[in-house]
Amino acid sequence: MQRERVPYDHKLNKTLELLQKPGLLLAASKKSGESNVMTIGWATVGFIWGKPIFMALVRPSRYTFEFIEDSQCFTVNVPADDLRRWVGICGSRSGREIDKFGEYNIATTPAQTVAAPTIDACPMVYECQVVHYNDLIPANLTPEIDASAYGGTDYHRLYFGHILGAFADPSY
Ligand SMILES: Cc1cc2nc3c(=O)[nH]c(=O)nc-3n(C[C@H](O)[C@H](O)[C@H](O)COP(=O)(O)O)c2cc1C
Repeated sequence: MQRERVPYDHKLNKTLELLQKPGLLLAASKKSGESNVMTIGWATVGFIWGKPIFMALVRPSRYTFEFIEDSQCFTVNVPADDLRRWVGICGSRSGREIDKFGEYNIATTPAQTVAAPTIDACPMVYECQVVHYNDLIPANLTPEIDASAYGGTDYHRLYFGHILGAFADPSY
């Protein structure tokens, strides 16, 4: 897909809608060249430190966690309606078990501004460089969220990704 650079807030309402359902696709690589992709549903897009930021929450148990830690960058790929199957698979299968890109014919192209793959069939992509991260502080959570989302383990790491480029298909 031939995507062109767009403002970071291009179709932001649509991104936030798809984040809630069915989810977006976060992809990252290791310096060795290996890549992985997972579905994300918990994230925000905004403006911090004078920069457009995509803040994604990733649990340490995710295989993808290792990739972001290694490269300090990631892409967030907005799926078209007909890619919902991929979103389901990438949110239920781990790259520790299968090569999700290869097994499900998810074609990728290197991002333009960071060392991470972009998914060709996605009409919009955010390319993000991690400029800050912090770990969720269990003691600061409401008991209700702690119980419903964590049960005492696998608390998210919050990655603040500077959006170095947002790219979209001209018809999107
Ligand atoms: C709709 C949906 C949203 C999800 N959102 C997140 C998320 O925001 N953060 C997270 O750590 N895991 C999230 N997951 C779970 C991961 O996508 C899932 O565990 C995936 O298999 C991890 O793949 P990996 O081990 O290859 O990294 C979500 C799953 C689904 C189905």
